[in-house]
Amino acid sequence: MAIEIKSLDELKKMRKAGVLVAQTLERIREVVRPGLMTKDLDLIAHNFITKNGGTPSFLGYHGYPATICTSVNSQVVHGIPGELVLHEGDVISIDCGAIVDGWHGDSAISLGVGQITAEDQKMIDDCEFSMWAGIAAAKVGGRLTDLSYAIEKAITARGKYGIVREYGGHGIGTAMHQEPHLLNYGSAGRGPKLVAGMALAVEPMIMHGSEKVRVESDEWTVSTVDGSRAAHTEHTFALLPSGEISVLTALDSGAAGLAPFGVTPAVF
Ligand code: MF3
Ligand code: CO
Repeated sequence: MAIEIKSLDELKKMRKAGVLVAQTLERIREVVRPGLMTKDLDLIAHNFITKNGGTPSFLGYHGYPATICTSVNSQVVHGIPGELVLHEGDVISIDCGAIVDGWHGDSAISLGVGQITAEDQKMIDDCEFSMWAGIAAAKVGGRLTDLSYAIEKAITARGKYGIVREYGGHGIGTAMHQEPHLLNYGSAGRGPKLVAGMALAVEPMIMHGSEKVRVESDEWTVSTVDGSRAAHTEHTFALLPSGEISVLTALDSGAAGLAPFGVTPAVF
């Protein structure tokens, strides 16, 4: 399948889905605290998305049983919400996707439960920074792996982390997962040419220890093999017909996150 190219009108529809995902994640960020179960967060997300005209995109995706993914501590991605109780000091990644009017948004945040260690907070911040570095590296006429290279470079410049090999970012639009697949490492200047109308989800996954991961017996949860803690952050962004970047799942369109890179996103 070719890469789906969106018109400005279509990207405006994707923005609606992106805002809904952003608002859902903001609500969850506000309520996360010790003592909650991860299924409590899933219920909040499910109610919020459906009450606001959206459809949870993860629910039923290849049989996935929930609205969000909640991945705690050594869980990297795709953790299934359930009876797991959050404790002070935990690190949790919350991944959320919604469909509005046929168009998808996909975003994830990592955050601490109560007080967390400085090194865990730094890992979260470094993961997020590398995501922004990847987005900032996108430009019409460039190549896909310019983003991969920028992400990896940002991670390795900031600390000693493992970078997940098996999973990465992806095209997104009328489906959640589209071509192209975006690695979070590798050399620049390769892969498809970046053109106006492309939308990509950028989602680095890093850990304190080894990059080795395994899928748990629930057939979804991806965990580190060495038990080290992980972080995961994700945004959906687009290259507009004007050539500008706009981060569809950021309420400020990415202005704050892209500022350190001298990039000013289009706000819409
Ligand atoms: N946001 C995730 C990703 O980009 C999707 C979660 S997988 C699902 O890969 F099955 F939970 F939907
Ligand atoms: Co994604």
